[in-house]
Amino acid sequence: MKSPFLFISVLFTFTSPGFCAPEQVHLAFYTGPWDISVSWITFDTAEPVLSYGTSSSSMQNVTGTTNTWVFEGITRHSHAVILKNLEPSNQYYYKIENRLFNFRTLPANLNSYKVCVFGDLGVYNGRSTQSIIKNGIAGKFDFIVHIGDLAYDLHTNHGKLGDQYMNLLEPVISKIPYMVIAGNHENDNANFTNFKNRFVMPPTGSDDNQFYSIDIGPVHWVGLSTEYYGFEAQYGNSSIFTQYNWLTKNLKEANENRAQVPWIALFQHRPFYCSVELAADCTLYENVILRHGALGLPGLEAEYIKNSVDIGFAGHIHAYERMWPVADLKYYKGPNAYHNPVAPVYFLTGSAGCHSSGMKFSPLPMPWSAHRSDDYGYTVMTVANQTHIHFEQISIDKNEAVIDEVWVSKDVGHRHSEEMRIDGEKFY
Ligand SMILES: *[C@@H]1O[C@H](CO)[C@@H](O)[C@H](O)[C@H]1NC(C)=O
Ligand SMILES: *[C@@H]1O[C@H](CO)[C@@H](O)[C@H](O)[C@H]1NC(C)=O
Ligand SMILES: *[C@@H]1O[C@H](CO)[C@@H](O)[C@H](O)[C@H]1NC(C)=O
Ligand SMILES: *[C@@H]1O[C@H](CO)[C@@H](O)[C@H](O)[C@H]1NC(C)=O
Ligand SMILES: [Fe+2]
Repeated sequence: MKSPFLFISVLFTFTSPGFCAPEQVHLAFYTGPWDISVSWITFDTAEPVLSYGTSSSSMQNVTGTTNTWVFEGITRHSHAVILKNLEPSNQYYYKIENRLFNFRTLPANLNSYKVCVFGDLGVYNGRSTQSIIKNGIAGKFDFIVHIGDLAYDLHTNHGKLGDQYMNLLEPVISKIPYMVIAGNHENDNANFTNFKNRFVMPPTGSDDNQFYSIDIGPVHWVGLSTEYYGFEAQYGNSSIFTQYNWLTKNLKEANENRAQVPWIALFQHRPFYCSVELAADCTLYENVILRHGALGLPGLEAEYIKNSVDIGFAGHIHAYERMWPVADLKYYKGPNAYHNPVAPVYFLTGSAGCHSSGMKFSPLPMPWSAHRSDDYGYTVMTVANQTHIHFEQISIDKNEAVIDEVWVSKDVGHRHSEEMRIDGEKFY
């Protein structure tokens, strides 16, 4: 296949499965910042092989694995190669058949970096897509965290909408890592088959992309499934317990490792806190169970509080909302609330561009709400160092203007949970 025909060939595969071009090429962090998984799909059988190197003229072959899966009559071959122990601060080239890509690895002294975080981005009405592609390619952020609800939906039309979505994003996600977790829209009534088979997330948790953690510079990142709770009736409760037991151990270890990795940032699809009309999505039974636990099912929030989780991201609600530090419905607000916060700081960022509009805020924000906006957009998180993280909300409606920003900072060794116990009167 010669390059002038590449574009046509890729388009051709949409309508004609059977053509063997590698498509939907994307990267993700594997076990650390310098171990990267490269994933792609073919519709015909193909070897899971790519060549890579620090120059496009001297590359070595690496063979990975192929996972063949069938969804609603269409067979897809998901290929993955793990590039291990890459050199920091290096430009790498990789080639799958005749398609050549490149990416840059993060520096060894990884104190600061930028992350694009959002939930709820579809093909139709994907308002933030072009901005994310443009700015991601331009190096405005080092990786992407998509906190559930992809494509709307990955499985629509026998999975072809998922193929289309991944090809649409390919220019950026073949260049910077794309970290994902499942939202309710990833339930394909086939036990998340499309979500599990299209991605390769770090193998540190569930091994099927549902929950994992990874340390990147000064931040311990944890991605969780809220959908175990949301679809308990359909898939049973055992995964809720498996995830909870893993989380308990994971956060405890991360908390003990603060001298090396001072921040803990958690991302999940459904939020604990939001201020939308009727507040339905944050007060519904499954969300209360998720946060607080009920009827023998463990909630997640107590673990966040106990282990002093610093930052929590969620989507699902198609809006942006920044919370004051809040724990178990108790909040602390004030000019210094984000310095040495006494509780986790949550960001709701589900406004990237969903299939439908019409989300309405409640007339009054909840008391823990610090700022809210229903502009389309996404969040850029800048990890500055061991004590400072900056958050900016980018508005697509306002030509990429920053419509909200905040620094979260803390002294070395600060634990909000300890302070909360000592200083309980700060609440309410
Ligand atoms: C790398 O793999 C390609 C495709 O399978 C093959 O054509 C090529 O000869 C291999 N190169 C080396 C150096 O093994
Ligand atoms: C869903 O898939 C997971 C593996 O990804 C498996 O452990 C679990 O048993 C499955 N659940 C059902 C209800 O099939
Ligand atoms: C979990 O599911 C099992 C099997 O359906 C059931 O027997 C058990 O009561 C459930 N546990 C909780 C705490 O809901
Ligand atoms: C961390 O970053 C903040 C914000 O840029 C800066 O004010 C502070 O001096 C930095 N701290 C260290 C130790 O570099
Ligand atoms: Fe959702």
